[in-house]
Amino acid sequence: MAEALFERAKEIIGKNDLGTYTVPTHGLYPFQWNWDSCLTAIGLAHYDEERAWTEIETLFAHQWDDGMVPHIVFHKEDEGYFPGPDVWATGQPIPTSGITQPPVAGFAVRRLYERARDPARALVRLRALLPKIHAWHEWFYRCRDPQATGLVAVIHPWETGRDNSIDWDEAFDRVPTEGVLPFTRRDTQHANPDHRPTQAQYERYIWLIQLFRSLNWDNSQLHDNSPFRVVDPGFNAILLRSCADLAALAEEVGETEIASAARARIATGIDALETLWSEEFGQYLCLDRVTGDLIESASVAGLLAVFADIPDSRCRAVAGRIAWLKEHAAYLVPSHDPTDPRFDGARYWRGPSWLIVNYMIADGLRQKGLDRTADKIVQDSISLIEQSGFAEYYDPISGAPCGGTSFTWTAAMVIEFLALESR
Ligand code: GLC
Repeated sequence: MAEALFERAKEIIGKNDLGTYTVPTHGLYPFQWNWDSCLTAIGLAHYDEERAWTEIETLFAHQWDDGMVPHIVFHKEDEGYFPGPDVWATGQPIPTSGITQPPVAGFAVRRLYERARDPARALVRLRALLPKIHAWHEWFYRCRDPQATGLVAVIHPWETGRDNSIDWDEAFDRVPTEGVLPFTRRDTQHANPDHRPTQAQYERYIWLIQLFRSLNWDNSQLHDNSPFRVVDPGFNAILLRSCADLAALAEEVGETEIASAARARIATGIDALETLWSEEFGQYLCLDRVTGDLIESASVAGLLAVFADIPDSRCRAVAGRIAWLKEHAAYLVPSHDPTDPRFDGARYWRGPSWLIVNYMIADGLRQKGLDRTADKIVQDSISLIEQSGFAEYYDPISGAPCGGTSFTWTAAMVIEFLALESR
């Protein structure tokens, strides 16, 4: 069974492999996506190490001069996606979007380097990537934390990778829709509209892009001018984990300046994460940086915080919360609390379980010795695949496949789960 799943996963990645990068899935997402590529590289490395490094190198070849790594690289034209390069108009030599995504590259590169079967070759590639990843991290603190709070904000829901989470609802209501140019969505032609964001949400996504474009994508302006500024605990945990992994790698190869800069970020960031803890919800919450209030929405972002080196007591509380979720959802980890009336088990990030998130939460729990909870998450992830195939995401109550099919990062996670299981 495991071997058949592994072969099927390889086949899916192969189908979505365009040589130097993968697309998340043909049709729905026909370009290179940032965190998809980094997480996919981890799966790829199990059978093609060279190709795994290339996946990340291709992404970083499109890093902006200011250090940002964009969320989409539009390598080739494709009419089937909206919003395409002409809407973003970022003026990059190869068109890219103008916002970023969860910075998981530092974590992925450490995985690749430490498991390398060709260490000499891996060292060369690591040395080239280290300063680029560091520049991206520093970009975050400079441009997305101008008040030096230790936590970075996102300025567009797409940056979080959790596009239509319930977390954004209130803050997103402040984003106007007047002046949005008419458009035709393409996502609903490739996937069931009931699984996708609503039209009102789409208009706001586009309004923000139009605003940033009017500011010439100048990152010294965007944060303060955006009506949407949210601090996401999961996103910050990914950044802090990547800083920690980068610091460890930098120490190993003698890049002491990078190492100490990254370590300083971690010390401040881990302390600052504590301000997002909610005793009432028993988990971390997002913070609306415009109003200064915690957002009352129990999403998976508050559990993903375990991916960073947070205090043991907080990790145990998160594990308890996951055990509680298991009583309300057959398949861990629902992206939102199923007892919340706003929960929707089929609609994208408003309830469904996603394997990439499962992977990062399980990894964080294991770091703290919480293996039993991690095992449950992995078992549920494999059951979902066996039952429903390589979907984009899954209904956590019924296990039904949702969104796109033949999904690259889902396949990559399956390979990684199987490899970790067989150890
Ligand atoms: C959706 C997801 C995002 C992902 C992208 C490509 O926008 O919300 O996390 O990176 O699709 O798979």
